[in-house]
Amino acid sequence: MARPGRNSNGEESPKVKISKEAVNEALAILKYITPYKAQFIGGLFFIALSSGTTMAFPYMLKRLIDSAHGDLKGVYAYTPGTIALLMIGLLSVQMVISFFRIYLFTSVGENAVGDMRKDIYSRMIMMSMDFFAQRRVGELSSRITADVSQIQDAVTTVFAEILRGVLTLIIGIGLILFISPKMTALMLSVVPVIIVIALVFGKFIRKMSKKSQDQLAESGTVVQETLMGISNVKAFSNEWHEISRYNKTIENVVGTAIRTGRFRGLFVSFMLFSVFGAIVLVVWYGAGLMQQGQLSFGDLTAFVVYTAFIGGTMAGFADLYSQLQKTLGATQRVRELLKEPTENVSFKESSVDRQYKLGGSVSLKNIGFSYPSRKEVEVLKDISIEANTGQQIAIVGPSGAGKSTLVSLLLKFYEPDKGEILFDGRPSTDIPLTQLRMQMALVPQDILLFGGTIYDNIAYGKPGACLDEVKAAAQQANAHDFISGFPEGYQTVVGERGVKLSGGQRQRVAIARAILKDPVILLLDEATSSLDSESEAQVQEALQNLMKNRTSFVIAHRLSTIRNADVIIVMEDGRVKESGTHADLIKIEQGLYRNLNKLQLFEA
Ligand SMILES: Nc1ncnc2c1ncn2[C@@H]1O[C@H](COP(=O)(O)OP(=O)(O)OP(=O)(O)O)[C@@H](O)[C@H]1O
Ligand SMILES: [Mg+2]
Repeated sequence: MARPGRNSNGEESPKVKISKEAVNEALAILKYITPYKAQFIGGLFFIALSSGTTMAFPYMLKRLIDSAHGDLKGVYAYTPGTIALLMIGLLSVQMVISFFRIYLFTSVGENAVGDMRKDIYSRMIMMSMDFFAQRRVGELSSRITADVSQIQDAVTTVFAEILRGVLTLIIGIGLILFISPKMTALMLSVVPVIIVIALVFGKFIRKMSKKSQDQLAESGTVVQETLMGISNVKAFSNEWHEISRYNKTIENVVGTAIRTGRFRGLFVSFMLFSVFGAIVLVVWYGAGLMQQGQLSFGDLTAFVVYTAFIGGTMAGFADLYSQLQKTLGATQRVRELLKEPTENVSFKESSVDRQYKLGGSVSLKNIGFSYPSRKEVEVLKDISIEANTGQQIAIVGPSGAGKSTLVSLLLKFYEPDKGEILFDGRPSTDIPLTQLRMQMALVPQDILLFGGTIYDNIAYGKPGACLDEVKAAAQQANAHDFISGFPEGYQTVVGERGVKLSGGQRQRVAIARAILKDPVILLLDEATSSLDSESEAQVQEALQNLMKNRTSFVIAHRLSTIRNADVIIVMEDGRVKESGTHADLIKIEQGLYRNLNKLQLFEA
């Protein structure tokens, strides 16, 4: 089992100083427990009970021992048989209590954490594109796994352990005081000192083993990088270079680990000496008291057992404290995420509202835009484009001109800084985001298929579509033939764990998905990867089918494919340099389009 609070990269929730602010954040997270309050309080109650029964056990043990010894006085004189029966009874009660304690806490913890994960995921997926641009995927998924597990740990064990620890200390110290104040004084002057030394030492060792773990992770990175890029390593014959790089990291790991081992050896021998030394000291003192008749044999036994409980609890508190700090770190990160503003997407809309039904005319008016993460670079400058219903608008231009960015703005992944986008003359800000996106389809530049069947991937354009609809779409997208060629047909699993589709096949699946969606406005970001001429012809035909009767924006790299577009927009460096039909643009002497066209004619 993975250690809680740690994801697969060994990344832990950060520790946070226990401050008022951090505690408030944590309390806000407790709202997830509220629905399961009754169970939670029940669980706490059973913990208190179980501390009570646990602490009663050594006392009963003492009575059992003393009963054999004849050290009994007056009315409390039970026979050993009776006491043993009582103890068995106590154990049975303990059994029931433990069951409920574990059951209740597990159920509260799992429920609350399940709710929290659902919440975090639904918030996360509704965030704006900018949010995702600024964060690593691994970091986000560790919020939902590692941080939440850390919180779960707190709910299910940390609270319980603190409560149990406090009770153990109070009851335990009370009882040993009752058994023998003198011995208690001796014990309390020795045991905490040992514990403090052990904690300081332990912390040092933990730091060292963390260091060797980090170094190990580093060497893991070398392995991962080189294996993933193995073709690079081999093509550059850098095997020796990588071997020596890896060896160096491993030597570091070994060095640190051995140094840690030396300290751990010292630590363990110190602990063995001091723990047993303390026992000898206490028992020696107790034996003296026994000789003087101040203490029974049972008293001494119970005292030693209680001392072990108390010592263990004190040592456990340090770990609990660091768990608590980690939990606060985790709650803070989760809260940060829950506080981020989301996009205004809505779940309820399953169909297009007549009020917002798009006609298909789009106009961009003096759009200026820079990405929120790179405010200083203006990616689009004063872009104006008019698209009438059903028109095909082609966008061409060199790499980095801002073509894909323009498409992102149409989909409202981002808002323009200047100017506005109108749909049928209505400002895009007046149309609900979900309504707008429901009527557009994007065939992106880099097509990602989900892990699932081809059927699932096409039906993504229209959730719940039947196989016939999917097939019809695939036929129009020129994808039916290759799909039927697979032994499992539409049920062929694709994605990371399934069949790998070629670039052209993926494109046609994406086109089928868009056809199935039947959008009013189509956005096509043509992939640069060149297809062989047969697949290209097939993809082209599929695209022509797709563009029929809709307004489409087509980013094209091969000019041959857009010769018939109604308007060709030539972009460079974030601006519209030229626009018009193929016939218009080809006439411009020294024109960008004319030049590009010439270059591509040579290539072909
Ligand atoms: N998420 C982002 N954050 C910041 N800058 C970005 C982001 N995406 C793109 N850019 C920058 O915006 C500029 C335009 O990028 P864009 O992807 O729109 O170009 P493009 O015309 O589609 O190029 P290509 O033909 O290579 O696909 C580039 O300089 C790019 O570095
Ligand atoms: Mg692009």
